[in-house]
Amino acid sequence: MTDKHATPSKGFSAIEGPALIVTVATLLVIFLAGSFLVQRGYLAMLPHVMRPTAWLAFALFITAFTASSIQILYRGTYGRWAMKNRRYIGLSFALVHFIHAGLVLSNLAFTEASRTAPVLAGGGMAYVFLALMALTSNNGAVRKMGAKNWKRLHKIGSYYIWLIFMATTVPDLPITWPLGAIIPLVGFLALFLRIAAWRKLRK
Ligand code: HEM
Repeated sequence: MTDKHATPSKGFSAIEGPALIVTVATLLVIFLAGSFLVQRGYLAMLPHVMRPTAWLAFALFITAFTASSIQILYRGTYGRWAMKNRRYIGLSFALVHFIHAGLVLSNLAFTEASRTAPVLAGGGMAYVFLALMALTSNNGAVRKMGAKNWKRLHKIGSYYIWLIFMATTVPDLPITWPLGAIIPLVGFLALFLRIAAWRKLRK
C-alpha cells in the first residue's frame, strides 16, 4: 500500500497510523469479551460473533479498497486520511479477518457445523493472499519485491478477497434480504468507484 497521494491531513483529527490498529484491536477484545460474558462461554458465543467480525472486516477492507479511488475522484480530507492510513487500515482488516478465521475454524472443530471442501479451499485461498498482503505491508518488503510486483500482489489479492466477500453474501440474498444486501451493494459500489477512478486516470 504505497503512500503516493499522501499529504498531512490538516484540520482533520482522526485516528491515524498504528493507533488505528490498536483501536480496532481494543474494540474487538471488548466485543469478544462482552459476548463471552453475555453468552456464558466460548462455544455459546460463536454463532453471535462470526457474522459481526466478518462485517467489521468488510468495512475495513472497503475503506482500504476504495482509498485511492475516492482521492482520485473526490480529492479531499477523507481521501487524504484514507490514503495516508491505507496500510494501517489494511493491517486492521487482516487482524479482524484472521480472528474471523479463528472463530469459524473453532466452530467447525468443536460443533456440528461443516463446510464443503471447495468452500474451505476458496476461503482458505483468501487467507493466503491476506497473509501475504499483511506480511508485505512494510517499506522493506516493497523495496525487496519491487514496486511492480508488490502492486501486482496487492491488486490480485484485494480483487480475490472482494470476490470471496461477494461469493459469501450474494447467493444468500433471497434469505438474508434486505440487510444481507448491504455487503453486495457496498461491494459493487466500491468496484464502480475503482473503475471510474481508473477511467479518469486514463483520460
Ligand atoms: C474457509 C473459510 C471460511 C469459513 C468456514 C467461513 C464461515 C463463516 C461462517 C460460519 C459465518 C457466519 C454465518 C452466520 O452466522 O450465519 C461467516 C460469515 C461471513 N463470512 Fe466467513 N468464513 C470463511 C472465510 C471467509 C472469507 C475469506 C471471507 C471474505 C473474504 C468471509 C466473509 C464472510 C462474510 C461477509 C460473512 C457474513 C455473511 C452475512 O452477513 O450474510 N468469510 N463465515
